[in-house]
Amino acid sequence: MPTAVVTGAASGMGHATAEMYLVRGWQVLGVDVTADLGIDHPALTPLAVDIRDGDAVTAAIASGVPEGGIDAVANIAGVYPPTTIETYTEDLYRRIFDVNVFGLLNVTRAALPHMSAGSAIVNFASVDAFTVSPGQLLYGASKAAVVMLTKELALELAPRGIRVNGIAPGWVDTPGNAATGRMAEAAKSIPLGRVAQPAEIAEWVWILTGSGAAGFVDGETIVISGADVMR
Ligand SMILES: NC(=O)c1ccc[n+]([C@@H]2O[C@H](COP(=O)([O-])OP(=O)(O)OC[C@H]3O[C@@H](n4cnc5c(N)ncnc54)[C@H](O)[C@@H]3O)[C@@H](O)[C@H]2O)c1
Repeated sequence: MPTAVVTGAASGMGHATAEMYLVRGWQVLGVDVTADLGIDHPALTPLAVDIRDGDAVTAAIASGVPEGGIDAVANIAGVYPPTTIETYTEDLYRRIFDVNVFGLLNVTRAALPHMSAGSAIVNFASVDAFTVSPGQLLYGASKAAVVMLTKELALELAPRGIRVNGIAPGWVDTPGNAATGRMAEAAKSIPLGRVAQPAEIAEWVWILTGSGAAGFVDGETIVISGADVMR
């Protein structure tokens, strides 16, 4: 049974991605700050760990890895509090970069010793890495870092046969976005006239990692925004 590590598995796109792998018969190590992932499935192992803590992440992943190792890593956990040059604080800076960038590195490094040729990694960036969203000063910068890390890691890991790609979603119907109350308004300005569902983004994690369709796609970050953002 192939195994995927999915971070942010308790909510939104991480949750949908964990379900997607489980439906396809994969085993899932679901990483989040809570062990309550809202999914009851025998092939799911919740790993409650803060991805900012590198040693704890390494120990948690090592404790959950089955004999066959890890076939895919979906780095989805992320935070997106608004910041501007007037409102940012050191705490916000640390939180955004430590979760979105450092946390992604911690999980990737912890998983790598258990990965072999043919396995793949997907990093979640955002359209905010490519275009300017008002009030997302530090978030956009952190996701631009994820795009570049994806390219660097692709180059570093290609000799080992491990591919690394990114997904940059636009508006997605997640609990965080629903809470803003701005989704219906946002949908009006998206050329396809709607926001994305988490499950359709999860399908792209599958395409890039498990489907066998993306064996020559490496170092790319795919924008999925309903034509809201083109680059
Ligand atoms: N929602 C969107 O429209 C949207 C758009 C573009 C990009 N993204 C990115 O996609 C990813 C998923 O977004 P979402 O809206 O589905 O997320 P979400 O807010 O619904 O869920 C994120 C999950 O990550 C977990 N998490 C946060 N910090 C953590 C930490 N330090 N250690 C472990 N787990 C932690 C949270 O507990 C939560 O369960 C994020 O990286 C986000 O930046 C989201």
